[in-house]
This record gives sequence, C-alpha cells and structure tokens, in this order.
Amino acid sequence: MEVNFFPYRELYLNDKLNLTNVIDEVLSRGAFILQKDCDEFEENSKNFLNCSDFITVANGTDALILLLRAAGIGNGDEVIIPSHTYIATAAAIHYVGAKIVLADIGIDKLINPNVIEDLITDKTKCIMPVHVNGRICNMDEILKIGEKYNLSIIEDAAQAFGAKYKGKSAGTFGIGGGISFYPAKVLGCFGDGGGIVTNDTTISKQIRLLRDHGRDEKGEVKSWGLNSRLDNLQAAILNHKLKNFPQEILRRRRIAEIYYEGLKDCEGVIYMPFFKDNEQNFDIFQNFEICCKKRDVLKDFLHQNNIKTIIQWAGMPVHESNLDGIDSQSILPETDIFFKECLMLPIHPLLSDQEVHFVIKKILEFYA
Ligand SMILES: Cc1ncc(COP(=O)(O)O)c(C=O)c1O
Repeated sequence: MEVNFFPYRELYLNDKLNLTNVIDEVLSRGAFILQKDCDEFEENSKNFLNCSDFITVANGTDALILLLRAAGIGNGDEVIIPSHTYIATAAAIHYVGAKIVLADIGIDKLINPNVIEDLITDKTKCIMPVHVNGRICNMDEILKIGEKYNLSIIEDAAQAFGAKYKGKSAGTFGIGGGISFYPAKVLGCFGDGGGIVTNDTTISKQIRLLRDHGRDEKGEVKSWGLNSRLDNLQAAILNHKLKNFPQEILRRRRIAEIYYEGLKDCEGVIYMPFFKDNEQNFDIFQNFEICCKKRDVLKDFLHQNNIKTIIQWAGMPVHESNLDGIDSQSILPETDIFFKECLMLPIHPLLSDQEVHFVIKKILEFYA
C-alpha cells in the first residue's frame, strides 16, 4: 500500500465534473476580478464563520499584512508571535516595519500565554497568536493580557478556517484573523488565496480599500493600498468547495480519532493533538502532528514502507531562520524540543480508514 501525504491531483479528479463546470461557467462569463463569485464566497464564509465581515485577499500573508496595516502597526512597534509558526507570520510583521518578538510554546504546542507578559515592553502594540494545525490558542488568557496592556490581538488563522474556541470561530477574537487558501489547506483553492475574518466594521472598511489599491466601490482612490485581490476564479472554486467543507472536517476529525486510538499506548509517540476530552476547542485538523522518539529514523522507516510524512517547515522554528529582524538568541526551550520531535502524519478527506490503520500498524511495528 502507498500512502500519499496530500493528494493534490486526486482532490481535483474526485470532483472533476463539478469543478470543470464551475471553471467553465466563470470563464464563459468573462468574470475575472472582484466579480459576483467573490461576493458570494465572502457572504457564504461570513455566514459559515458567524462573523460580521469576510474579505477575500490574494493570500494568507497579505491577509496578515493588511490586518497589521489597518490596525496602524508599523515602524517602532513590537508584535509578539510564537516561534512555532511559518516564516510568513514573521514576514508580515517585517513588511509593515515592526519588530518581531518571539515567544515559546506551552503544552498545547501553541503560544504559551504564561510567557507573554515578560515579553511586553512600552513598544508592544500587538499579540499575534497562531492557531497552528487548526487548533485555536488559549484565547481567554491571551485576551486578558491584551486587555490589561491595551494591545491589539490579530490572529494568524491561516491554518484554522472554521476552527472554534468556546463556540467562536478563528479570527473573531480580536481585530481579525488572516486565513490561507493555499491548495493544501483544509479549504484550498487551485493556487494562492487568502481571506480576512473580522467583527470590526472600521477594520473591514479599511481592508476593502487596502486590498484594491486604496479604491472604493466607485473606483475613487482613498488611500495607498496594494493589489491583493483574490482571483474571481479561485473564489468560485472555493465557493463550490465550501459546500462539502463541514463533511470534510468531520472526516479529518474521525481520522484524528483513529490515529489517537491506535497510537495512544505506543511508547515512542510522546504527544498527539487529541481533542475528545477538550470541550472548548473544535479542532479542524489542518495537520495531524505528533511528537515522537527517534523521529528521523521513524520517518525513513515509514518512507521505506511507502508512507509519506512531513517535518514541518524543514524542522526549523522562526528563531532559527538567519534573517535580519529575527532574534536568533531567543531562549525558547519548548519550541526547540518540539522541532526535534515533530512529525506530520497523512491527513486529508480522501484518506481511507484502511490507509490510516496501515500507518498506525507501521508505527507500532517500528517501536515494537
Ligand atoms: C501559520 C501560517 N501563517 C501564514 C501563512 C501564509 O499563508 P499564504 O501561504 O497563503 O501566504 C501560512 C501558510 O502556509 C501558515 O501556515
């Protein structure tokens, strides 16, 4: 048996007829930029996430840049993020001219609220929690700190479209959240794409201008902006995929449950992102990332058995990227341990129970 990590091609072929109809319909209308498909997808996402506005943009990184700009964060300001994230989180802060301040992770492998206060200075303007793998961070604690120090909260929800915390969707806790529709995301388009979730009408008005060269609906230029429009074609594809999205999330959660049940007594597996007794989080399992002993040897063993796994972000936290603006001296022991042990197992809506059991069997065989 061969277990792919992510079946880009099959996800298209599996729904080819419908998808080609969607694409043909858009092309036949000659509707390419900010047309009705964008409006419809924004409206449907807004209803799905229960937020006051959803704005499509070109990608998840732009979503964060636009949120930071709309919140007035720039030169001289400091933004706190976890080092356990993709470089895009840090890049967004870099590109608005602010300083990146890196925090360690807690037991849930997400930003640890207990270390945030020590990182706050008189220049701190914002905390940007990152809901890695589709689990929302401990927002109660983060919001408390934000309120105490009068800081903006902007969520990096690139991996968390539809994830919930105490019944509220990712992106609805602070100023807003940035979503990525990169093809391998839970809701992925056929290229780059992004969106912004917000409950703040002032922010949403500003972002609608910023994403389209500062132009309003009449085309009048009201501010400096950039070109960060989602292609209308991608919006139509996403709109179609959104219909089946709730079922796909349920399938991901079921796969996570099978992995958990199969591996919970395995001594080599140190950590799994389980959710059953966690009533406050509704995880969407963008990834199923475990921590395990002899990680690199296990990865090779699984590869030899035709099972593809991934070590996320080449096994490097943000503080190890050798870039200006990144404090490589940051002391982040939990993040360092995590990146030595982490391994992502295959998870996607087309993965069969049989394939999941095969992965489990091979992991158990490795540690036996
Ligand atoms: C945590 C995180 N933040 C930001 C991004 C950036 O999104 P995009 O690739 O759509 O720009 C990603 C995408 O992989 C991500 O995983």
